Parts: sequence; C-alpha cells; structure tokens
Amino acid sequence: MEKKIIAVAGATGAQGGGLVRAILADPTGGFAARALTRDPNSAKAKELAALGAEVVAANLDDPESLARAFAGTHGAYCVTFFWDHFSADKEAAEVESMAKAAKAAGVKHVIWSTLEDTRLRVPLGDNRMPTLQERFKVPHFDGKGSSDHFFTDLGVPTTFLLTSFYWDNLIHFGMGPKKGEDGKLAFVLPMADKKLPGIAAEDIGRCAYGIFKAGDKYLGRTVGIAGEHPTGAQMAKGLTDALGQEVMYGYVPPEVYRTFGFPGADDLANMFQYKRDFEAEFCAPRDLSLSRALNPKLQTFAEWAKANRDRIPIG
Ligand SMILES: NC(=O)c1ccc[n+]([C@@H]2O[C@H](COP(=O)([O-])OP(=O)(O)OC[C@H]3O[C@@H](n4cnc5c(N)ncnc54)[C@H](OP(=O)(O)O)[C@@H]3O)[C@@H](O)[C@H]2O)c1
Repeated sequence: MEKKIIAVAGATGAQGGGLVRAILADPTGGFAARALTRDPNSAKAKELAALGAEVVAANLDDPESLARAFAGTHGAYCVTFFWDHFSADKEAAEVESMAKAAKAAGVKHVIWSTLEDTRLRVPLGDNRMPTLQERFKVPHFDGKGSSDHFFTDLGVPTTFLLTSFYWDNLIHFGMGPKKGEDGKLAFVLPMADKKLPGIAAEDIGRCAYGIFKAGDKYLGRTVGIAGEHPTGAQMAKGLTDALGQEVMYGYVPPEVYRTFGFPGADDLANMFQYKRDFEAEFCAPRDLSLSRALNPKLQTFAEWAKANRDRIPIG
C-alpha cells in the first residue's frame, strides 16, 4: 500500500526531528516522512536522509517553497521558530503561509504546534506583568495562540497541539543546576511551589505521530501533551537522583528573573508567571494519560534526567 506522506517543518530540530524519527522507526505504520529544511546539504539533513526520510528544501518565509513541500502529502506538521528571531509577527506570517499552502495542497491533516494566547487571561491592561513588544504579554505564546485561526478560517483539517516546557532546556537553554557560593547545586525556576508541565523534546514528535496514526480522531481538537507535571522541588529531586549529588530547588520570583538580562528573559519571566498563576488552567489540558496513550515511550522527568545525566551542564 502507498504510504501517506507527512511533511515535517523543523525536521532538523527538536519537535520535527522527533516526529521524523518516530515515523521512520515504524516502517509498517503506513506513513513516510518528508523532512523540510532550508539546507538539504547540512549534516543534520543528511542524517535524516540516511535514516530514510525524503529531504526537501523549504523555508517558512517562502510560500512557493511551502507549496512544493506540501504537494502530494497526507499530513503536515507545522511549527515556528520564535527563538531564532523573537518576533511574534513573523511567526504569525509563517503560520498564515503554512495554512494557505496546506489548503492549496489539500492536506488532510495538519498538526499545528501552538501555545496559549495568554492575553485571554491576562489582558494587556493587566499590570501584574509588563506588556512586551507593545501588544503581547508572552510573545512566544501569544503569537502562536492568536494564529490558530489561520487554519480554522481556511477550513484546514487541523489538530492544535499544546506542547510543554522542554526538559532539554536544562541542556540547551542554560536552565540547568548552578553551583552557588556555598558549593551546593541549585536549580532555579520562577514557579514557587506550582507544577510545571514538561516533556522530553523527543517525545513531542512521538506524540504527534500518535495523533497522525489515530486518523480523524483528533481533527478539530486541541490536544495538550506533557510527560509529567512536576514542581520545581520534584525536579530538583529528580536531578539529585540522576546526578548523584544534592540539587536544591530555588524559587526566583518572575520580577527577579525578568532582570536577568539575557535575550528573552522578560518573555520567559512572564511565561513562568502565567504558568505559576494559572497552574490549574495550564495543567488541565496537558493530559498525562492521553500523552502516554499517544506515545507509549513517554518519559517522566526522572527518567529523562537519568538518561541525560551526562549532557546536563552544571554551571
Ligand atoms: N524550548 C521549549 O521549552 C519550548 C516548549 C514549547 C514550545 N517551544 C517552541 O518550539 C518552537 C521551536 O521548535 P523546535 O524547538 O523544534 O525548533 P529547533 O530545534 O530550534 O529547530 C528549528 C529547525 O527549524 C528550521 N528552521 C528555522 N527557521 C526556518 C525557516 N524560516 N524555514 C524553515 N525551517 C526553518 C531549522 O532547520 P534548517 O536549518 O535545517 O532549516 C532548525 O533545525 C519555538 O517556536 C518555541 O517557542 C519551545
């Protein structure tokens, strides 16, 4: 039987890479992976080709390349890359281009990797957190959430995937434990004692594959995924066990986190404040048993930390 092709944006990255590998790891599953990249000659693109992916040149900022990339596909995994440019407007333009390309190609199932528009709970006039870039509270959330309509307006059959905090941020985003002046390791988050839904980045693509495999079941629905909803203290315990040395949890209030000064610190501080202040609302849609049903390999934080103990930098 002919395989159903899934076009995967960000295929050389975290979310898309996980999906491409999940598709290729299941050769009898009925799906084939079309990996989108701006540079088919890069080492990462060649790695995907060697695994069996069809590698296709595409740039989210070039609608014609998206038209070619989506042609003849059953499904498309759509994701944008806020941290490459810090612009919610650019994300919105890219989502609109992907939605139009999916519509024109007659794609039967889009998964759009979105996040909440936080302004629905914290309007711009609410001074509990500063307004950023003039129109946003959490730009990298708001730009995604407010772009969902591009798919619905065009009637593109879409599953809206609410992802969670990548535990891999401890490796790649400088969020790992740091040694204090007393020589002790501390893991800081602006979460107080609230739960932070999180996930191993590789598990996002595996969950997305579960959604494609389920056929029409999740079309038109919002599906939230997480590997676990641990508190900062529980994450510190997981790190202690994985690293074999004590890691304390430290609460840094968002007001302080905001002053850390690295690019995007204000956006992340507002994000954590939103997750802290709307704990129940943020956790509820990120259903752990559904995530596990979609992806039986789903990792807990302790499992992820153990498997990655040698990759977590200690500052
Ligand atoms: N970090 C977190 O905790 C977290 C949690 C939830 C959601 N997110 C969201 O996840 C998104 C990023 O996804 P990711 O982590 O999977 O990305 P990633 O690992 O940074 O990968 C991005 C890939 O996308 C490709 N790319 C970049 N710009 C492109 C463009 N204009 N056109 C086509 N391809 C392009 C690049 O591949 P080539 O160079 O090969 O083209 C790159 O390998 C962000 O928007 C972020 O807000 C992050």
